[in-house]
Amino acid sequence: MNTKRAQWTDKYTTPGWKAGALGLLCAGFFIVGGQTAEPIEPKLRDIRWLDQRSDRLTALTSRPAEPVNYDPQTDWNLEYELGRIAFRSPVIFGGFAAREGLTCQICHTNGYANRNFFMESHSSRPGTFDTTSAVFSKTLGDNTFNPIEIPDLVNVANTAPYGHDGREPSLRAFTLEVITQEFSGKQPTGTLIDALLAYMNALQPRDKQTEPITLEEDLKDTSRGLRVLIELAEGKNADGASFVIASLRYQLAGIAERFPFEHQRKTYSVLVSWSRDLQRLNSFAIEGKWEKLAQRAVRLSEEVEEVYRRNSFVSAGSLYEPETLKKWLKPLEQ
Ligand code: HEC
Repeated sequence: MNTKRAQWTDKYTTPGWKAGALGLLCAGFFIVGGQTAEPIEPKLRDIRWLDQRSDRLTALTSRPAEPVNYDPQTDWNLEYELGRIAFRSPVIFGGFAAREGLTCQICHTNGYANRNFFMESHSSRPGTFDTTSAVFSKTLGDNTFNPIEIPDLVNVANTAPYGHDGREPSLRAFTLEVITQEFSGKQPTGTLIDALLAYMNALQPRDKQTEPITLEEDLKDTSRGLRVLIELAEGKNADGASFVIASLRYQLAGIAERFPFEHQRKTYSVLVSWSRDLQRLNSFAIEGKWEKLAQRAVRLSEEVEEVYRRNSFVSAGSLYEPETLKKWLKPLEQ
């Protein structure tokens, strides 16, 4: 298991990523885990943000359905798609949050407050977080343990002013504060912050529904991400392309974690090879080889589609399957 972990880490590192965020991210995922001698490896990264007393099986196999009137098939919108990726990507953050793979999605899952979120020394109860902690923020640390409730973001376009104390009238300014101050990220490009706002503005009030977390949906997200990458390459957007590449590699690592068993080694290797392909594409983005980048991204996207169409990855027996996950979680329950 450890060799596999090392192999993945190796392939997953992206020297070309300017901020170096992804290299650090890998350290967070893999080296920390590798030091512990626990019987079960690799860990599912999202477990670390879950309250131990919560129903982790349910939390890792289902989530609220995204409250949007948007279908990528018919409504495809590059800005929305990029924002959706940013919402699910630690690459937008810096420091500890980026290293540990924290994302907007982990706290505001598909726009709803994650009531099972818990982080030692940062949460007083599940679903709370201390936003003024020096661990995450270079500027906001107040040396006080003062966690607050994580809010829903549904209908956030119409709920100004923002923050529990209503301190900020502008959603853009609040979001920029979250990224750059609270979680030590770089100032995002105009394109990226516009995209994130376009995505959040699409979160609409409606009856909360639940959906299963599936391999199928995760592969669809990979395909959507590759289409975004192709369009950014066509628009010669280097920052955007590098950002999406790093974010997609984080997504792929999340899928790979669900296939930790020996008999799934083939699936795991394919995911590693996709991640490695993306790493190469990043150098094309840096060198401005747009045509080459777009071509390769199209090819990769066809490969993903093919796997999807032929059902060549089998989620039965993987950690996507509730029965298997339940058994896998058992030793952690004690
Ligand atoms: C570790 C958990 C966590 C993460 C990660 C996180 N948030 Fe939040 N978010 C919170 C908490 C807690 C609050 C309440 C803050 C306050 O009231 O001052 C909040 C508040 C907000 C609000 C204000 C909502 C309102 O109605 O007042 C917005 C908007 C928001 N977050 C967007 C984001 C975005 C966008 C990201 C990712 C870039 C993100 N958050 C990442 C925990 C988180």
